[in-house]
Amino acid sequence: MIIAQISDTQLTLDAPDSDRRMRDFAQTIADINALDPAPDVIVHTGDIVHNGRDDEYAQAAAALSKARAPVFVLAGNKDNRANLHAAFSAGGYLASESDFIDYAIDDYPVRLIALDTMSSESNKGDFSSEQIGKLIDLIDAESKKPIAVFTHHPPFEVTVGPDRLHFETPQTMARLRQALQHSGRVVAVFSGHVHRAADGHVGSIRATVMPCIATTLRRGHYPPLMRIRPVYQIHRFDPVWGFATETRIVGEQPMAS
Ligand SMILES: [Fe+2]
Repeated sequence: MIIAQISDTQLTLDAPDSDRRMRDFAQTIADINALDPAPDVIVHTGDIVHNGRDDEYAQAAAALSKARAPVFVLAGNKDNRANLHAAFSAGGYLASESDFIDYAIDDYPVRLIALDTMSSESNKGDFSSEQIGKLIDLIDAESKKPIAVFTHHPPFEVTVGPDRLHFETPQTMARLRQALQHSGRVVAVFSGHVHRAADGHVGSIRATVMPCIATTLRRGHYPPLMRIRPVYQIHRFDPVWGFATETRIVGEQPMAS
């Protein structure tokens, strides 16, 4: 199974780099469409738009409609649940509008679980006790396949960048860490939000952060030729070896199959 992860496109209509962000998004989708072998799914780990506005979501939905693989989206701190729901409810995988955007996808050799870590208080992550109970139910519903979990905010200590903890409290991270390790079926956690690549662990589970698609918002050092080229990640799952992650620079030569 091949998962293409994209994140933090942060589309906006009225910033000096609005056109650049739209181009980064469109070029990334075109690059994913040209992959051989093609990915089975594309997961957008949130901060789809910058201000949560419905006109921004219209642009994002138009960009994602060009994708050949099925697309699943998460909510990030820049998103707006109601507007995100309105833009993407046609996919049929989002729960009702009033709920957290937590869901599971069962159509693949790996069960995918998407978590809503938006906080009403700040840009940092949150995860309520109610959601913990639901997460454990989503994990327990799987008795055979491995599970990959997607979150916008990384639920582990990120050792690069100025901020090491991206949740409001360490207690919330501890609760989430415990829940994720609950049955031993979760084999990977994939996140965004930090705008630069990072690796870590949630307890014993491998966890990664991908850089952001918007090149003008990306952090970390890139050579001059790469400054206008978005970077995304491809996670390949093999039943024997588990997940392996490849970082892909948009516009590079096609991957060897
Ligand atoms: Fe974010």
